[in-house]
Amino acid sequence: MLYRSQRSKDMQAKFQTKKFHMGDELPRPADVIDGLVPYDAVSSLDKIRGLPAGVTPLKLDWNESTITPSPLVVQAITQFLGNSQHLNWYPDLGATRLRKALTSYTGTPLESMLVTNGSDDALELICKTYLGKGDDVVVAWPSYAHFLVYAKSRGLEPRLVTPSDVFEVPTATLMREIRPDTQLVYITSPNNPTGVVIPTDDVAQLCKAFPSTLFVVDEAYYEFSGVTAVGLVKRYPNLIVTRTFSKCFGIAGLRIGYLVASDPVILQLKKLYNPKSVNVLAQVAAQAALSDKQFREDYVNEVTRGKEILLQGLIDRGAHARTGDANFILVKVLDPLKFVQSLESAAVYVRDRSNMPGFKGWVRITVGTVAQMEDLLTRIDELLKKNPRLLDH
Ligand SMILES: Cc1ncc(COP(=O)(O)O)c(C=O)c1O
Repeated sequence: MLYRSQRSKDMQAKFQTKKFHMGDELPRPADVIDGLVPYDAVSSLDKIRGLPAGVTPLKLDWNESTITPSPLVVQAITQFLGNSQHLNWYPDLGATRLRKALTSYTGTPLESMLVTNGSDDALELICKTYLGKGDDVVVAWPSYAHFLVYAKSRGLEPRLVTPSDVFEVPTATLMREIRPDTQLVYITSPNNPTGVVIPTDDVAQLCKAFPSTLFVVDEAYYEFSGVTAVGLVKRYPNLIVTRTFSKCFGIAGLRIGYLVASDPVILQLKKLYNPKSVNVLAQVAAQAALSDKQFREDYVNEVTRGKEILLQGLIDRGAHARTGDANFILVKVLDPLKFVQSLESAAVYVRDRSNMPGFKGWVRITVGTVAQMEDLLTRIDELLKKNPRLLDH
């Protein structure tokens, strides 16, 4: 008898030996999913919603924008809804209008881009299209951990490669670790959580050295660094760049991002790409956000100044803190859990990254406006009165 897979074989064996228990009749997930544990995302939203009236939270845990998006976004959505512009219809397929708007922003032709339901969706699409069981996948680590979920769902265990100093640019380590048969390499730039940027020349060097390997450069924080590998896509067909509207553009709740890739890669990705998966409001909002250049530039400048103020403020208070080229900073403390809980008591929500390998003691803090960072330092001063060892490292 021919079995479709190992699991149908197992089921058949259970029937034959009459060892079939209650619950066994439930359909089992695919073999590659069976061994995975649920992705456990931790957000402060529930805690924030439970705060007493009048308490202003500082939500600094997920690197979102800390202010509402450009007024043009709300205006565009309101106008769209006000004109009863057909929520009953599917959205602009493939977000063609948004891609048109993105051509000048990215310097890339419309055909080289796919708009996705957040950049997470782009990462998932890439993994579904390019990865299969047992493939060699390299991740410059520490990095955005959610990518691992998508890679593992393809039945493989990514190799996490880390420079001896986690804050080093990973190029030399990658050059050493990538094999000629490596299927995909994932690099985040600026990296989350280190803030480290990989120079464009290094990306070119890697793409050139390993032409059969697909390089995915995740530029979720591009707007804060201004460094991009997008321009290389024309020259290196083995490169994909992903970006998002969740960070600098301030519309994380709407879920929209995009990727830039060469024609042959786009052709492959389109086999599984769902052209109606990006909702109409997200498309309208992203176009409006993109059109407000001044707002975007002002926010980036504000974050840059906020970063300097927070970094210096923490150092002045004796903390071990460091910054990078994204909208967050890092602080190293003796007891990260206690530090995070302490800040929570002041309605400040930050992200403990200390259990990432090589990242012992580090806590990540999203940077917002100057006023918010001054407010944060004031709250830290209050906490320091109660616990002078709060920032010990
Ligand atoms: C490096 C990186 N990539 C992707 C994402 C997810 O972005 P999106 O909201 O576009 O799915 C995040 C979010 O924190 C991130 O840090």
